[in-house]
Amino acid sequence: MSKITWKPGTMLAPVPPALISCGTVEKPNMMTAAWTGIIASDPALTYVSIRPSRYSHELISKSGEFVINLTNLPLVKAADWCGVKSGRNIDKFKEMGLTAEACSEIKAPQIKEAPVSLECKVIDVKSYGTHDMFLAEIAAVNVDDKYIDDNGKLWLEKAGLIAYVHGFYYTLGRNIGKFGFSVEKKPNKTKKPEFEKKAESPEIKFNRQSSRKCHSEQNNIFEMRKPKRLSDVRKKRGDTPKLKKFDGEIKFKKARRENEVMLSAAPKKHYGKLKTKPK
Ligand SMILES: Cc1cc2nc3c(=O)[nH]c(=O)nc-3n(C[C@H](O)[C@H](O)[C@H](O)COP(=O)(O)O)c2cc1C
Repeated sequence: MSKITWKPGTMLAPVPPALISCGTVEKPNMMTAAWTGIIASDPALTYVSIRPSRYSHELISKSGEFVINLTNLPLVKAADWCGVKSGRNIDKFKEMGLTAEACSEIKAPQIKEAPVSLECKVIDVKSYGTHDMFLAEIAAVNVDDKYIDDNGKLWLEKAGLIAYVHGFYYTLGRNIGKFGFSVEKKPNKTKKPEFEKKAESPEIKFNRQSSRKCHSEQNNIFEMRKPKRLSDVRKKRGDTPKLKKFDGEIKFKKARRENEVMLSAAPKKHYGKLKTKPK
């Protein structure tokens, strides 16, 4: 195995196809951004890198506010569409049937339908070539309460979040371990580790199954069973079919006769193109 070295590029994956909402509740806009991430946890700092040509760049520069909305399967069309259409002359919220909802700490709107929305206040803007990086403080986090259980625990895996990988959108796969599992003490055989127990919970199981289904549907990959051969099925059933008498020879002879009649009836100028010259 060897690696091929390419020229510098943005080959970081997966990244979030986040929907960045901005403007106001009355006149909202949103754009898709994959160049977004976390800078520090305390204070909670984030960034989004936006080309100066985007309408959202203009709105965020003016207001100093934006919202990072996480996207899930129901929002994948909006994530793509808002990433190819500018809101300069269209109302993207209206076009996508989404709701601009008021935030708690800022005037920029959040997307009501998004599972999680991070309210952001810009603290600095840095220009880096093609993109300007809006550095921001996360002022509040809004989470859809359907993902929070009675004990206040957030089950974000239920949200069906999506990822963006090298030009394609994906749903996430199954839970394969929790933070720190690699250093956890080996469990004794009778006791399952905590993360495995959670993966077995009916909610997770359902989520995993539905996510797998979505994945298969999206990629047109269906769980394949080994195809059964007709001969195997018959062998098992014990009914070997009787072979039909081969009548290919008769058919062939008949076809040749008809062909000869056709050729002899054809005008002479066509003979040259025909491979068989009529007798
Ligand atoms: C998956 C995806 C990721 C994108 N990421 C970014 C990004 O990080 N920064 C950016 O400036 N544009 C990005 N874009 C392009 C903008 O979303 C797009 O130009 C959009 O139309 C701008 O909308 P606006 O003019 O209404 O602001 C991305 C597009 C897609 C589809």
